[in-house]
Amino acid sequence: MKPDQAREIVVVEDLPALIEAAAQRIAACVTKNAGRGAICLTGGATPEPVYRRLAAEPYRSAIAWDRVHFFWGDDRFVPSDDARSNAGMARRALLDRVAVPPGNIHPIPTNAATPQQAARLYEDEMKRFYGADRLDPSRPLFDIVLLGLGADGHTASLFPGAAALEERSAWAAGIDRAGFEPFVPRVTLTFATLASTRDMLFLISGAGKREVLTRIFCGEQLPAARARSNGSLAWLMDRAAAPPEAKSR
Ligand code: 6PG
Repeated sequence: MKPDQAREIVVVEDLPALIEAAAQRIAACVTKNAGRGAICLTGGATPEPVYRRLAAEPYRSAIAWDRVHFFWGDDRFVPSDDARSNAGMARRALLDRVAVPPGNIHPIPTNAATPQQAARLYEDEMKRFYGADRLDPSRPLFDIVLLGLGADGHTASLFPGAAALEERSAWAAGIDRAGFEPFVPRVTLTFATLASTRDMLFLISGAGKREVLTRIFCGEQLPAARARSNGSLAWLMDRAAAPPEAKSR
């Protein structure tokens, strides 16, 4: 991880512009790699229209879906058909609409006995896919990691004050108490695993995010501010979310 990594801040006009810009970046990222690719999806409300956009033209035809594998940065510990499931949302918005082979979809096993067991099983699944037990910074696990920003500064299911923020060895962690809605246990990838990517892209929309972005831009070390990538790091936001001093660079 690069501790002093600069973020590329991209401010776009509104939510439709954010959806298009995100879809373009995701498609560019997975198509530039001719081999097997991996996307780490995020949950929450902001990515859903981005996933729907990817399932429509021109992205639907431009992406070789059979080469792309799908993982999740976090999920709520609920059955996959529960309305709160991040995996369920991504299936409905994208994965059920494009030709992704079922074997390319790697949801967090929320049917495990506990969030901790689900985290261990998911770690095994990621290691199998990666082909090694240790992450090598020169060979990223993911092509792109998508993340969101909570109004309390969380990202994935890494909430302020949680022990998982300091986890250095496990690839994933079970979270018994969510710090934000929906208040169900969670399973989350840890910072080191999220960092194992060529590109990291935050999707941030709406006036409800302006205050937390101001805190982060003032230097507060909230969880989302601590997310780093071994490759690029971009925060894509619409004008409603962006504090006045945020400018695209
Ligand atoms: C989840 C998340 C979470 C989300 C943020 C932002 O499961 O809830 O993955 O980290 O990305 O809470 O969500 P919104 O886009 O809905 O604001």
